[in-house]
Amino acid sequence: MGRIIVFTGKGGVGKTSTAAAHALKASREGINTLIVSTDMAHNLSDIFETDVKKEPTEIRPNLWTLEIDPNHEMENSLGVIKNTISNMMKFNNENDAETFEDIMVFPGMEELFSLLKIKELYEKNIYDLIIVDCAPTGETLALLKFPELLSWYVEKFFPIERVVLKVLRPIGKAFFKIELPDKKTMNDIEKLYYKLFELQELLKNNEICSIRLVTIPEKMIVEETKRNYMYLNLYNFNVDAVYINRVIPDNIENSFFDGWKEIQMKYTNELRAIFGSMPIYNIKWYEVDVVGMGGLERIVDDSLDDKDIFKVLKKTANERFQKIDSGYKLEVYVPFTDKSNLDMYESNSDIIIKLGNFKRSIPMPDVMKKYFISTAKFVDNYLCIYFEEKVN
Ligand SMILES: Nc1ncnc2c1ncn2[C@@H]1O[C@H](COP(=O)(O)OP(=O)(O)OP(=O)(O)O)[C@@H](O)[C@H]1O
Ligand SMILES: [Mg+2]
Repeated sequence: MGRIIVFTGKGGVGKTSTAAAHALKASREGINTLIVSTDMAHNLSDIFETDVKKEPTEIRPNLWTLEIDPNHEMENSLGVIKNTISNMMKFNNENDAETFEDIMVFPGMEELFSLLKIKELYEKNIYDLIIVDCAPTGETLALLKFPELLSWYVEKFFPIERVVLKVLRPIGKAFFKIELPDKKTMNDIEKLYYKLFELQELLKNNEICSIRLVTIPEKMIVEETKRNYMYLNLYNFNVDAVYINRVIPDNIENSFFDGWKEIQMKYTNELRAIFGSMPIYNIKWYEVDVVGMGGLERIVDDSLDDKDIFKVLKKTANERFQKIDSGYKLEVYVPFTDKSNLDMYESNSDIIIKLGNFKRSIPMPDVMKKYFISTAKFVDNYLCIYFEEKVN
């Protein structure tokens, strides 16, 4: 089974450098590796000092690179979707159809195609490891929650067969042993919907996909790292390691850095306190920027000697659904949450959890219609929601 490791973090913290160093290390170990950039402002060409293409290209043994061009991907697959949707809608005139096309390509749409491309590459089973170098945090979060969001729209606006709908219900799926529908009998919209579902399953599968946080030991960046971690958990992604980049080396004897060393120490300690349950790798601040194989080799040799680094380093139970005496209990892990920031309610058969500007809607299986939320409370960073059976 192939692996996917996604590097995320605030702008400029060293995501591309760290991701590329992992790709180099993996390839050296004989792991057939593809490094993919989903950032529109691609940097892989610069860092590998080679022309990285829109299709996977092997730049040294076992090291493949790809800069996804979302527009190109969109052109490839959007046509089918647009046709399907317009065939399903009755337009009164040409203008309506055109306006509809404009709306169809909503912000973030292109990025979705980067993700679908990654899924497609994963399914080809050519690579042992796919390393994803992401755009800065905000965009990455938007990207990661996108399949779920889009599924929601599709579900609300298009007639999806009940049988397909049931499959998407993520909570308690294993629990209720829901049968997967036969793909052959699906229409195009259902197929797209199913693809989005599979994409979510892939990115949220903690045996396959790890999310790694890259940070710098400074106040603002540590704050953002915590927020990022919270949202990634809310959406049930598995974060399994943290990289602290630009750590000032001990042997620097220059009074200018004394204050900085103290600041870095303070925030390194904070990061260790927060993320102590998972591996934390330090990467030192080099005297020159990280470019070319030489630059990457330094990171590999100095910081990435963990022989298990490509394995799943930690699994967090972000979502737990269980049968209890009084009914069912759903627990959602939302670390570092201020309770006053958290809101929860039911809408149709979805549980909506609002956290700051983020809203996650967790669809519940049909079986749960017989139940209502009796209580919800916040215990040890878990939002615990209790369901009891309705009495008629
Ligand atoms: N440990 C380091 N020592 C010296 N220079 C570094 C280090 N880490 C990163 N850099 C340099 O900092 C710059 C930003 O690094 P990088 O491109 O890896 O960050 P990024 O998080 O991918 O940025 P973006 O958000 O723009 O994609 C680059 O010029 C890189 O060479
Ligand atoms: Mg980058």
